[in-house]
Amino acid sequence: MTLEIGTARLDLPHRPRRLRRTPALRGLVRETTLRPSNFVLPLFVDDEPSGRRSIGSMPGVYRWSVDRLPQLIEEVASRGIPGVLIFGVPAEKHDDGRGAWDPHGCVQRAIGRVKEAAPGLVVMTDVCLCEYTTHGHCGLIDDHAACNPVNDASVELLVRMARSHAEAGADVVAPSDMFDGRVGAIRRGLDEAGFADVAIVSYAAKYASGYYGPFREAAGSTPAFGDRRTHQMDPGNAREAMRELELDAAEGADVLMVKPALAYLDVLARARQRFDLPLACYNVSGEYAMVKAAAANGWIDEPRLVLENLTAMRRAGADFIFTYHALEASDWLSEPGS
Ligand code: PBG
Ligand code: ZN
Repeated sequence: MTLEIGTARLDLPHRPRRLRRTPALRGLVRETTLRPSNFVLPLFVDDEPSGRRSIGSMPGVYRWSVDRLPQLIEEVASRGIPGVLIFGVPAEKHDDGRGAWDPHGCVQRAIGRVKEAAPGLVVMTDVCLCEYTTHGHCGLIDDHAACNPVNDASVELLVRMARSHAEAGADVVAPSDMFDGRVGAIRRGLDEAGFADVAIVSYAAKYASGYYGPFREAAGSTPAFGDRRTHQMDPGNAREAMRELELDAAEGADVLMVKPALAYLDVLARARQRFDLPLACYNVSGEYAMVKAAAANGWIDEPRLVLENLTAMRRAGADFIFTYHALEASDWLSEPGS
């Protein structure tokens, strides 16, 4: 019997392919959108003289001097990216991380500079001590052998840091330490100081992850001993993440974040079902580095993979995404056919 290709007809009422026939049809029924307005660009500022310094494991990402920031900020604003997240890489570190609340610190100066360059941009700051401590831990260490930052005394310092960022003009503070009770303490600290309008984006479910390696190179925040497993979450736990999110919501977080993103999309999806608060995720440095390395080898189609990854984060439930791809992804999104 000969097969007449193209003329055989199955009797099928349901043909999902009907809506995949043309780009316009596909566009009409697409469930998940991805826009530059969904991105926040994390950026690094340091105390070095004028210039920008590249980061080996994060091609395309730089540590910026405060005076050069406007160049980057114009790129962000011109693409319609609504916000940035500022990390400081201070020249001087102390045991107690006291540079973190120095009114003339690089982050505090950067906030003013960004506001000047783009008054409408949402300025967020990372609140954690690990870039500011000599030992690279996120809080105070009182027993080096235990490698276990003390909780409550560290939280007090984080409150000082958050207030200092608010005084400098930050719109949002984002505590990334994972100590207990810090969201509530920061909320009270901000309110008492007259910053009731400063919002908190909480790194609420932040895992002890190997994906932060390149960031630690960029920020000079690798712990000198031990690790962060006594405060960041165990990768095996998802129910515990719901408890962490619940606590931060109860303590007054305005936005809840899951971090890293790709290996934890299940956590993000569960969070989306459970919470009505806005949700964010952090497409972290290791995720960025993997894509960049594969692309540099010619093994993957970078724009396609990046947009696919970011779409997956949105599909899982993120309202917005912290991503080092923000500038390039915005350009790719504006190309016809994307
Ligand atoms: C600081 C902080 C880290 C990241 C954001 N804030 C590093 C860490 O917890 O060790 C990671 C960001 C990234 O990998 O892109 N606590
Ligand atoms: Zn930290």
